[in-house]
Amino acid sequence: MSSIDSRAIIVTGGSRGLGLGLTADLVANGYRVATCSRNSTPELEGLVATGKVFWKEGAVGEARDDDAFFSAAEAWAGPNGIWGLVNNAAVSGEGILATFPNVDSEYIIQTNLVGALYMARLAAGHMLRRTTGGRIINISSIIGLRGHTGLAAYSASKAGLDGMTRALAREIGRRQITVNSINPGYLDTSVSASVQEAQRRQIVNRTPLGRLGRVDDISPVVRFLLSDDARFITGQCVVVDGGVSC
Ligand SMILES: NC(=O)c1ccc[n+]([C@@H]2O[C@H](COP(=O)([O-])OP(=O)(O)OC[C@H]3O[C@@H](n4cnc5c(N)ncnc54)[C@H](OP(=O)(O)O)[C@@H]3O)[C@@H](O)[C@H]2O)c1
Repeated sequence: MSSIDSRAIIVTGGSRGLGLGLTADLVANGYRVATCSRNSTPELEGLVATGKVFWKEGAVGEARDDDAFFSAAEAWAGPNGIWGLVNNAAVSGEGILATFPNVDSEYIIQTNLVGALYMARLAAGHMLRRTTGGRIINISSIIGLRGHTGLAAYSASKAGLDGMTRALAREIGRRQITVNSINPGYLDTSVSASVQEAQRRQIVNRTPLGRLGRVDDISPVVRFLLSDDARFITGQCVVVDGGVSC
């Protein structure tokens, strides 16, 4: 296996929120990261300036963008190839399903689920060709496991992601490629910024560990699943939610 500091990881949606935090954490721990998003941010530009991060504009779920990004990331990664994929990019949208526009449901599924499938397909093909194993991590949500009023399309996208985790783990496990989901609870990032203060207090009250999750609650779990120590863990949903769903 290649040493950690030569390992290149793809993290989709690295411009802000969890994806930006994961990108910074992986770089701080010796990895190189290729990321894509529809827009860049000053924080991401700062990481690109270190020379350890590659960014390309693109939307996951748009097959042409995904193919172009993956090819560019492969070229950037060099001879050791890409060790891991973290499917992080996602969008959300809230509203009761009876009045939720179909176009919004389609966009959520296209980005969160179809986009992740496209990226996993590209990563699996790359890793199978290289024959040195690899890691695929799907950033899911406890909402995919438990459901949530007003989030039917988002819940469906995350439950679908967990299904993909289990199927793909079976499909490529013999080649020492592991596939796992991480299912965070409510995080203090922009996806949850729209949650009203009263609702936040309610979530905190229902959480045994007494607070919302932070990016640095998730990043060590991502690093562990990417590591050699996690070589015998596959097809799992790892819930990281302060106990809110227990
Ligand atoms: N926040 C929470 O409470 C929470 C809880 C459980 C799970 N999660 C999951 O954690 C992950 C990160 O969430 P977050 O809170 O960090 O979200 P966020 O702050 O909204 O960031 C989402 C990231 O994804 C990118 N993105 C969105 N659509 C994209 C597309 N089509 N193609 C490429 N990039 C795209 C965004 O960049 P651009 O807009 O520039 O494209 C951004 O970088 C998601 O999978 C989310 O479902 C979040």
